[in-house]
Amino acid sequence: MQLIFQNLAFALPLASSVVTAQNPGLGLSSASGVYNSSETPSTLPWNTYNFCNAPHINALHYAPPPLAVSAAGQLVHVSVVMRHHKRTPDNLAPSERALNPPMGWDCSKAVQLTYDLGGVAIAHDATTPAQHPFARTIWSGTCDAGQLTSGGLIDAAQHGKDLWELYHDHLGFLSVVSPEEIWVRTSTEDRTMQVAGAMLAAMDPLRAARGQPWAVHTQPSSIDSLVPAYPCPAANSIRDAFQAVPAWTDHLSSNVSLKARLDDAFGTADIGSWASWYDHFFDALTARTCNGHPLPCNDFAGTKCVSEADAAAVFAIGDFEYDYIWHAAENASTYNSLTFGAFFAELADALAVPEFSHRLALYVGHDGSLVRLLAGLGVVPLRWPSSALKSSLKYVWEVVGTRFVRVFHEGTVIKGMEWIPLEEFVGTLRLLVPDQLFERCMGD
Ligand SMILES: *[C@@H]1O[C@H](CO)[C@@H](O)[C@H](O)[C@H]1NC(C)=O
Ligand SMILES: *[C@@H]1O[C@H](CO)[C@@H](O)[C@H](O)[C@H]1NC(C)=O
Ligand SMILES: *[C@@H]1O[C@H](CO)[C@@H](O)[C@H](O)[C@H]1NC(C)=O
Repeated sequence: MQLIFQNLAFALPLASSVVTAQNPGLGLSSASGVYNSSETPSTLPWNTYNFCNAPHINALHYAPPPLAVSAAGQLVHVSVVMRHHKRTPDNLAPSERALNPPMGWDCSKAVQLTYDLGGVAIAHDATTPAQHPFARTIWSGTCDAGQLTSGGLIDAAQHGKDLWELYHDHLGFLSVVSPEEIWVRTSTEDRTMQVAGAMLAAMDPLRAARGQPWAVHTQPSSIDSLVPAYPCPAANSIRDAFQAVPAWTDHLSSNVSLKARLDDAFGTADIGSWASWYDHFFDALTARTCNGHPLPCNDFAGTKCVSEADAAAVFAIGDFEYDYIWHAAENASTYNSLTFGAFFAELADALAVPEFSHRLALYVGHDGSLVRLLAGLGVVPLRWPSSALKSSLKYVWEVVGTRFVRVFHEGTVIKGMEWIPLEEFVGTLRLLVPDQLFERCMGD
């Protein structure tokens, strides 16, 4: 008899740990956790929510399955679904340059490369000429909007080292860093590919030094299930409707003074995309604090600055909004299934195979990927998915012909998913895939 033990590790944004249980919700003025450094202070539990660099599974904190089972069972597959590491702001204020330190942002150690087999490696060297008529709309330095920063790249390398230490050194599960053992899926954004590249290079620096290309699997950007990026007008209507009721609009109308102070600093009054939710403020603030930049002032000379208290309020509201849209709102589960059904199906198909073709499947996506995965798996209440959040590590173990899954989030096993038959887990995923998804999305 053979033992099938399926151990799936998912990197999920919110741990079912102390911190998760204290999800602040709307009423609290500040969200618990770390927002200003990739390093969680040693005075806090190791798996404390860290928006800048989510805690992940590692050799030191890995909890093996119960001894009796692990003695008889065997790890056969690991899937990791994670968000990319920290980056620059994705949403630019109208006079962005004035909000940043004069030296701007540094991505010189996180250069984006484009290769063509047989051609040279093309490095994207982003600079904004000072005389450019539109220079005031973007910071100085070497970073584009939404680009992985040098710090993000360093975090990704450490993440790769930690994974290798656990699955190679400690568990002896991975033997060699090669496409035969490791299958990689990213979005079409450079930052997800850069993260995959940095992780793989840290796992095997010698292989990386030889410069051999590694094929990561992507989908066309117009239909990518992982972002997700496929069109779904029906889901948009559902979201519009549940964002038109007091359960949503109250938090906007009752925080007008906060919003006014933020607009004053960012110069964003009357811009709809900054007013319909706090997403842009959340992004603009956390990208700065995570990368060691000061909170912005409207002229960088220090008059109208965002206060620590206001930043903390934005972080808490960001958690409220993410939980509302993907979990708490009436019809949120329908919205989630429609917008992420294609990926739930992809994941279910990848797990429901007689034999795994790879030992490790690594998916590097975005906050929108992780928040949906977590919502689907019931890891609620939701918080904003941290950088590098591993939404799930599914360890598939074989025990006497049966496969079991353990699902991890932020390095910790998810309650209720400590040890479940793989079939049952796949069934859970299938339930999240609407019938006739295309027709339902397109309203046919
Ligand atoms: C981050 O914020 C905490 C709490 O406000 C503070 O104690 C700490 O010094 C800050 N760390 C950094 C690196 O700025
Ligand atoms: C949820 O969907 C139902 C059925 O379409 C609809 O009647 C209801 O108004 C929706 N709720 C919200 C808050 O949008
Ligand atoms: C925002 O509004 C909600 C009510 O909708 C309130 O509970 C919360 O305290 C407000 N937050 C801030 C930071 O003012």
